[in-house]
Amino acid sequence: MRSFRTLDDIKVSGKRVLVRVDLNVPFSVGEISDTSRIESIAPTLLELADRGARVIVLSHFGRPKGRVTPAMSLEPVVPHLSSALGGSEIAFAPDCIGAEARRVVDGLGAGDIALLENTRFHAGEERNDAAFAVAMAELGELYVNDAFSAAHRAHASTTGLAMLLPAAAGRLMAGELAALESVLLTPERPVMAVVGGAKVSTKIDLLNNLVERVDVLAIGGAMANTFLHAAGINVGASLAEKDLRATADAISAKARETCCSLLLPSDGVVAREFISGAVSEICAIDAIPEDGMILDLGPDTVATIKEAIQAAHTLVWNGPLGAFETPPFDAATSATAITAAAETKAGELLSIAGGGDT
Ligand code: 3PG
Repeated sequence: MRSFRTLDDIKVSGKRVLVRVDLNVPFSVGEISDTSRIESIAPTLLELADRGARVIVLSHFGRPKGRVTPAMSLEPVVPHLSSALGGSEIAFAPDCIGAEARRVVDGLGAGDIALLENTRFHAGEERNDAAFAVAMAELGELYVNDAFSAAHRAHASTTGLAMLLPAAAGRLMAGELAALESVLLTPERPVMAVVGGAKVSTKIDLLNNLVERVDVLAIGGAMANTFLHAAGINVGASLAEKDLRATADAISAKARETCCSLLLPSDGVVAREFISGAVSEICAIDAIPEDGMILDLGPDTVATIKEAIQAAHTLVWNGPLGAFETPPFDAATSATAITAAAETKAGELLSIAGGGDT
């Protein structure tokens, strides 16, 4: 049963609606290399405009750490947003609070759309500062959150605004929540989770939550090294959060209690330097050299994960399994993605992948 409001539950005609989206799109040599995030928010923005709202779009972009950083301005995104909205005119305000923002918002008629400058140009955004949230809230009458991929951050434009204005989920957010609900509350079993990335510390809640719900949890990326270290395995010079031994132990113990089978690496791709094309070797996990770094899962581990995915009916995936931006350490992530895609395409698997890197 749905426990949040959507666009179906709010009257938006004539109202100033603040819409938090995620326009944190990848830019490469002045071009957006992937516009999926822009396209995925179009249905919400178009619907609000069609229903006569004055649409005020908020987003972060990059990590400017509270400073106005021209290279992280949202202004270059305007033409791309306009084209995703079928050529709609988009006004731009060079700030997301204060007089500049107010002037642009006051100029909006019913059905008009404005994009405000990067919320993270203000230090109050990431601190979820009350005064900053109030300054944004003053621009609108309703709040819609369609930034699913930023919803794990308790920032002023995500959590703060939702506390200050009548709030609803946008179409993208509602769709993602419905999919997650079906996967986590009433999934077709076996359910498998694949979790990777660098740090256990950023995903403790996620891991604790998953071991209670899934049948198999495969852990990759540098966070697997933390688990291996906690299990007494020498990970050489690999990245690991050695101070999180107790946390890793507690998650492993909980997995045993809940009968969640924990898949940790049995081998790794090891190199002495972390550069593209580095010389690497496959090492068994109990034979990692002192000066070697595990930078990807080895072929035995990938084969085990593949088998588990083929046996599963539901898959939740968050985070890369190796240092995937730097070949050849992308092999495990790519192979696992190919397996998941093939099983999904064959109708054998419902798969959900989430997270920025993913
Ligand atoms: C993302 O790209 O993953 C989201 O926009 C969140 O960005 P952040 O990790 O900088 O908060």
